[in-house]
Amino acid sequence: MKSTIVATVPPALQVDDSAPGDRWLTVDMTVNGVPRMLRAPAHRTLLEALREDLGLTGTKHGCELGECGACTVLVDGQPRLGCLTLLASVEGRTVTTVEGLGTTAEPHPLQVAFVDRGAAQCGYCTGGMLLTAAALLADNADPTEAEVRAALAGNLCRCTGYASIVAAVRQAARMVAGGASHPRSGAQG
Ligand code: FES
Ligand code: FES
Repeated sequence: MKSTIVATVPPALQVDDSAPGDRWLTVDMTVNGVPRMLRAPAHRTLLEALREDLGLTGTKHGCELGECGACTVLVDGQPRLGCLTLLASVEGRTVTTVEGLGTTAEPHPLQVAFVDRGAAQCGYCTGGMLLTAAALLADNADPTEAEVRAALAGNLCRCTGYASIVAAVRQAARMVAGGASHPRSGAQG
């Protein structure tokens, strides 16, 4: 059953058992800089809430088993798998999806580098790749190839063979070191 956006002003987490069958929760969080409150069944995942309730379909629905990484978002700046994260667990947290990483007018250096390197083909893995890489660069401004590959090990790509993705992440690191801004990475640290 679809959750309901009930407000954008955050109160504390509340439990509401009034709906028959399901236990419902009211959860507030900040998504891409905007306060959001959702009323949803207790079993609703963050992936479902982002895509189906908030319309943020850049977060992809892949395996739903924690194996592909297509559903990766940032929670308080750290990569999390949306398919294995209950919406209730992000109460009071900050969530960044690929829609919050950059804009067409002001892309994140990672997005520029992915285009330059041809690191996105079908694009299904790309949002998760970008967010995982953004968290990496927030922690490690100059990652080696091995460090990039290790960070992205949980993000699968069936198209590129990974070399272009790794090159793009390292190019973005150089761009940031050279002064390129990263407008709204959401990655902390
Ligand atoms: S859809 Fe979440 S890891 Fe595959
Ligand atoms: S670009 Fe198609 S799965 Fe990665």
